[in-house]
Amino acid sequence: MKLKKMMTATVALVAGLSLAACGGSSKDAGKDPLEKIKEKGSLVVATSPDYAPFEFQTLVEGKNKVVGADILLAEKLAEQLGVKLEVSSMNFDNVLNSVQNGKADIAIAGLSVSEERLKVFDFSDAYYKVKDMLLVKQDAVKSFGSIESLAGKKVAVQKGTTQETYAKEELKDSSIVSLTQVGEAINELKSGQVDAVLLDSPVALGYTSQNKDLAVADIAFPETEANTKAIAMSKDSGELKTEIDKIIKGLVESGEYENYLKEVAKYTAVE
Ligand code: ARG
Repeated sequence: MKLKKMMTATVALVAGLSLAACGGSSKDAGKDPLEKIKEKGSLVVATSPDYAPFEFQTLVEGKNKVVGADILLAEKLAEQLGVKLEVSSMNFDNVLNSVQNGKADIAIAGLSVSEERLKVFDFSDAYYKVKDMLLVKQDAVKSFGSIESLAGKKVAVQKGTTQETYAKEELKDSSIVSLTQVGEAINELKSGQVDAVLLDSPVALGYTSQNKDLAVADIAFPETEANTKAIAMSKDSGELKTEIDKIIKGLVESGEYENYLKEVAKYTAVE
């Protein structure tokens, strides 16, 4: 009998340790993520603040601050859920991993919905829609008139993005340069190390307004469901997804998310 008790205790201990290792705990097992968030009193949001106007760094009263339309969205979610917001900044190619390993509750990072991501994560309803856009040097814009014109060119994309997936699958005649930070890609474009950068449309347009030597190419990339922005959370997030979808519905129908984009236009991004 004593041996059986010892075996049961050992199994429980191992189960608890393995759960803790992936960000959970045995007491949380089976709980809806919404219940866990409310119990701990905080909403941890993973983001990659190199993507104005969605999430970017700026100086506010001399201090570095993460701002953006997605950050205002995150603040709204935390307020509606009655918890504290914790913004966890990291490189984009770590954002989804941090949700998967339990270090973050959700990810809001200008994330596009894709079939590949839907296999691993739940996504909220869409809160915004974008297109893919090619950022090039102003003095070379006329040579980029079609997808075929990218043959033989060096096209930079951010690691882990839907643009990286698209470029590697569809731009077979181009040299795809995957970089961790968007800022790196812009620097390489400006210095001539790459010929173009593939980005979400508002981000590309933001760079052309801040840099007179940059322009967007007149190329229409195929529009897919990957052009809608949504919030990522762990699979089977049930009540959390329901609650977030309710909040997003309100923000979209009232035009408040559009107002967030206008509100953050007053900030200038710093690297
Ligand atoms: N929309 C693209 C994607 O979901 C790019 C997002 C990049 N976001 C960022 N904060 N750097 O893959």
